[in-house]
Amino acid sequence: MQVISAQEIDRLLDYPSLIVALRDAFGGTMVAPVRHHHEVGSGAGHATHLIMPAWTGDAPGGGFVGTKIVNVFPANSAKGLPAVYGSYLLQSGETGAPLVVLDGTRLTHWRTAAASALAASFLARDDAAHLLVIGAGALAPELIKAHSAVRPIKAVTLWNHRRESAERLAASLAGSPYKLAIADDLAAAVAGADIISCATLSQQPIVLGQWLQPGTHVDLVGAFNMAMREADDAALLRAKVFVDTPAAKHEGGDVAVALHAGAVPEAHIRGDLAALCAGKVHGRDDASDITLFKSVGASIEDLAAAMLVWRKSQAKAA
Ligand SMILES: NC(=O)c1ccc[n+]([C@@H]2O[C@H](COP(=O)([O-])OP(=O)(O)OC[C@H]3O[C@@H](n4cnc5c(N)ncnc54)[C@H](O)[C@@H]3O)[C@@H](O)[C@H]2O)c1
Repeated sequence: MQVISAQEIDRLLDYPSLIVALRDAFGGTMVAPVRHHHEVGSGAGHATHLIMPAWTGDAPGGGFVGTKIVNVFPANSAKGLPAVYGSYLLQSGETGAPLVVLDGTRLTHWRTAAASALAASFLARDDAAHLLVIGAGALAPELIKAHSAVRPIKAVTLWNHRRESAERLAASLAGSPYKLAIADDLAAAVAGADIISCATLSQQPIVLGQWLQPGTHVDLVGAFNMAMREADDAALLRAKVFVDTPAAKHEGGDVAVALHAGAVPEAHIRGDLAALCAGKVHGRDDASDITLFKSVGASIEDLAAAMLVWRKSQAKAA
């Protein structure tokens, strides 16, 4: 069976076609059951095993079945190994036969940034030109490329809780077409941005509602459990709020935490990517709206991305 590495995924994918693939997936008939979440072991050696299946609406008989397997082994860091390993198995929807294994970690970076950009295509102002990226990890450069595929980004400001990571990211972006800056005053950077994209491990709100200016779009990617926050309740209450999938109302920080605490009523959440892509809800209504998107990740994003990589790799081999 073929194996597609992270480097090959980078060679095959581009954001414009991946964003279209995700839009078709969210507007289509893919099936995505609730992900399986298993605790493995206990104590110091405790680990988490996640299984994220999805299949196309025409399987069996056509299309594809896909499964992402993610292992989080926290004790690995003491061994100098990554704590998270992801693999994606794409299978034929006609026969169930395995087709290809892809680097699931890299696939996740691409599909996560593409989902944020897909949301921004409905929610950010058409003339949004100044992107503030909060966080300087693996997702940060992907979020810049993805948002630039849907909006005319000219200036990128970086902020990270450890400035040296933002400086490293800025150095890696040297030669890019953006006017680059590193922010020290986060309140001023938030107030000056058209799109704020947050991908951190923060447990405290970083983006405060009182800083947001009319017309801003906020993209919250990072918080993945109820102990994590990237924006405060005021930011959620000032914004028209959308989520990637209904799961974001129950898991992940930010929206789920605010709903659970009663700080934000459920009716405040206007819709998800499926409803936006199917035209069942409207995104931005006015240039002065503040909009906010919270993602927790979805297995149909992985399947749509894996199908695109597979088709492009088949076309390249033909
Ligand atoms: N929504 C989704 O679909 C999705 C998918 C993949 C990853 N994620 C999440 O997005 C986040 C970023 O992912 P990544 O791969 O770039 O991670 P990464 O580990 O490469 O980078 C994390 C960044 O957060 C910063 N950070 C760490 N602790 C912080 C704190 N207490 N306050 C503020 N910043 C802090 C780090 O300095 C770094 O810049 C993670 O929480 C990850 O789990 C979400």
